[in-house]
Amino acid sequence: MNRESPDLVKSQGALIPIYAMPVITLKNTEHQQDLIIQRPVSGVSLNGRLRVPGDKSISHRALMLGAIAQGETTIEGLLLGEDPRSTAACFSALGAEISELNTEQVRVRGIGLGQLQEPADVLNAGNSGTTLRLMLGLLASHPGRFFTVTGDSSLRSRPMSRVVKPLQQMGAQIWGRQNSSLAPLAIQGQQLQPIHYHSPIASAQVKSCILLAGLMTEGQTTVTEPALSRDHSERMLKAFGAELSIDPETNSVTITGPARLQGQSVIVPGDISSAAFWLVAAAIVPGSELCIENVGVNPTRTGILEALSMMGADIVLENQREVAGEPVADLRVRYGKLKACKIAGDVIPRLIDEIPILAVAAVFAEGTTVIRDAAELRVKESDRIAVMASELNRMGAKVTELPDGLEITGGSTLQGTDVRSQSDHRIAMSLAVAALNATGTTTIHGAEAAAISYPDFITTLQSVVSC
Ligand code: S3P
Repeated sequence: MNRESPDLVKSQGALIPIYAMPVITLKNTEHQQDLIIQRPVSGVSLNGRLRVPGDKSISHRALMLGAIAQGETTIEGLLLGEDPRSTAACFSALGAEISELNTEQVRVRGIGLGQLQEPADVLNAGNSGTTLRLMLGLLASHPGRFFTVTGDSSLRSRPMSRVVKPLQQMGAQIWGRQNSSLAPLAIQGQQLQPIHYHSPIASAQVKSCILLAGLMTEGQTTVTEPALSRDHSERMLKAFGAELSIDPETNSVTITGPARLQGQSVIVPGDISSAAFWLVAAAIVPGSELCIENVGVNPTRTGILEALSMMGADIVLENQREVAGEPVADLRVRYGKLKACKIAGDVIPRLIDEIPILAVAAVFAEGTTVIRDAAELRVKESDRIAVMASELNRMGAKVTELPDGLEITGGSTLQGTDVRSQSDHRIAMSLAVAALNATGTTTIHGAEAAAISYPDFITTLQSVVSC
């Protein structure tokens, strides 16, 4: 590019040289999409107000509880990502009437507890661990009915024994490869017995699966977890009328069955896990300021806010309120210098899905950030420890894999190059944020994965980035 007399283009009302324009484009290849981010030499910034799509965890639960409740459930703000679409397809096949999915209002005509129908075909949970694991608790407790469930290649390699074992302790009959630990799984529904399950891992999917199995089980079913995981199931089950008691001292939840659930009106807040990409993007890219409106700030999900504020990020919660039983706020974030921190222990389940993007923040923080107690990341949609280490290092970062986390030394200059999402939505979006601060051109292969939880991520990125 000739810098003496550059070609000029219009950006946000001003004429600027073309070499200073950020270019964010999508290229379709045969099986996937490549996201190409060309950062101008002068850098970029992110500015404006935006909304993130509905919370994925709450969207799944609203569809599921709506399907098994009596009467009608309405859902406002549902996430239209591929994962909730898998849940909707499975529960339609099981007999619930679910209107066309949209963000305004989805209507679910529930069929009543214990009334899920035996579909003539395999239920496919796609890429969604939440769909498969939560649904298993419901299917296993439907006596006399037979179900088969599967998922995509990622889900078929993820451990199901964490839910199959406690369900078997309740009397469930489930078969699958490797001692019933891998999907596809076959389930012969049974009348289950209540148990007190001490989960070895803090997992909302495990906890929710057992609570859902407890809905149809006579007596008290209790789950105790080593640290508190997200509590959306507890909140929503209560709102739908289930008898539930919580002991915060021991991280235990007890459900008394058989329950009776009544359809409700659910309002889904914006997903803090999706907001996290913008929080980190604005925190690391000089000159940025974003306001992310209507974000769910349930305390079991706000570990990301605590970690970023430990790192010195400038994040303010505005307009805090409660919407349909969930705390909500607008999050204002401004660029500022970050410093390294240690993230481990009980906070991990409260930010587990945000660790890939936190790793990106750590690359631009001063000092060495250490993330531990996060071995669960190895069995997510991809092995997120291995993939984040390899892809960030490919860009020039200093990241070391630990068995249960990452060690990241900040301060390297990232260089644009070819990186891969490994079909993992959170990896695709994290690498896109890293690319905003990398020199030259970054190509993220497999960027279509973002649609699992954030179908509009790339258009939003294009709208908030300027130079
Ligand atoms: C989820 C729980 C978490 C999280 C996942 C959604 C849920 O998984 O990683 O994205 O909706 O219950 P684990 O329960 O396996 O930690």
